[in-house]
Amino acid sequence: MRLLGIETSCDETAVAIVDDRKKVIAHFLASQVADHRPYGGVVPEIAARSHLDHLDQLVAQALDKAELSFSDLDGIAATAGPGLIGGVIVGVMTAKALASAHRKPFLAVNHLEGHALTVRLSNEVAFPYLLLLVSGGHCQLLIVQGVGSYTKLGTTLDDAAGECLDKVAKMLGVGFPGGPAIEAAARSGDACRFILPRPLKGREGCDFSFSGLKTAVRRAVERLPVGPLKERDANDLAAALQRAIIETIIERLGNAFVIAADYKPTAFVCAGGVAANTELRRALSLAAAEHNLPFMVPPPDLCTDNGVMIAWAGIERLKLGLTDPFNFKPKPRWPLDSLGV
Ligand code: KG4
Ligand code: ZN
Repeated sequence: MRLLGIETSCDETAVAIVDDRKKVIAHFLASQVADHRPYGGVVPEIAARSHLDHLDQLVAQALDKAELSFSDLDGIAATAGPGLIGGVIVGVMTAKALASAHRKPFLAVNHLEGHALTVRLSNEVAFPYLLLLVSGGHCQLLIVQGVGSYTKLGTTLDDAAGECLDKVAKMLGVGFPGGPAIEAAARSGDACRFILPRPLKGREGCDFSFSGLKTAVRRAVERLPVGPLKERDANDLAAALQRAIIETIIERLGNAFVIAADYKPTAFVCAGGVAANTELRRALSLAAAEHNLPFMVPPPDLCTDNGVMIAWAGIERLKLGLTDPFNFKPKPRWPLDSLGV
């Protein structure tokens, strides 16, 4: 079984062809980082137009690299939400048109399910597993019980971890996109110089909150001498923020391990763009070992948005016969625990 996967929900136009033996046959990605950098954030209109400009060409490149034609594919999958709706519409309409013209099944993939299932391509993981999904728009703890079957243990009450990193990176002027820029700046910083809070520490449950951290960094900047932020100050604040986010996640995770025990998880998995962070990966691996669970995380380039995850989630769904009709409507919001398979 071979699937074409299309990802256009944010600022990467990505296309991949993957087979059911976990082989990534082709994988292409056009990053829009340079287009959005002047604005310090993703501009939805620019993103949608750029997907439109690049998608056809990437699909052609992927087939070319794979030395395949549409007749060799078993289906076309696209991210159908959640995400920036202009981009999602571009991907979904392209996938529907290709599927219709070539008489192939169409699969409307939930972007979060793409993140959640990628680990089953990169590693051997059986259901159920405990999942920390940390990206630009989401920070959730879930039990992944099967394809389309998710139980949410906790979520962020305000900003996602990635959103916090992105906003603070903009504030500190360390670069765009924010997560990798904070990680790089933190390497030369002193995480102990600035004291930042650990939101929700000691509270019951598995929810998160990150917007207070953003405010705490702003206050710390305001207390510094007036004038442009010095590189050392920016690096120290980046290091303090990275540590605060990681320690907060580890603290909330302690509760999740206890609650998750009832589900008898086979592993603890981390996914989503922020899971590309080396320090976070290290801390999560130690936490999992303390709770006697194997820790699994896809390689960094499969944590950030990509086409492979959409093709793979499509394969997992197609194996169960879960195809979608051509009148499927793209969804800007689409919680994982509402899939209800
Ligand atoms: O999953 P993703 O690529 O897109 C969404 O679905 O949101 O995640 C993007 C988020 C951004 O907030 C980005 O700054 C963050 O992941 N990110 C990182 C790293 N690479 C990407 N955060 C921390 N460290 C990284 N190395
Ligand atoms: Zn994502």
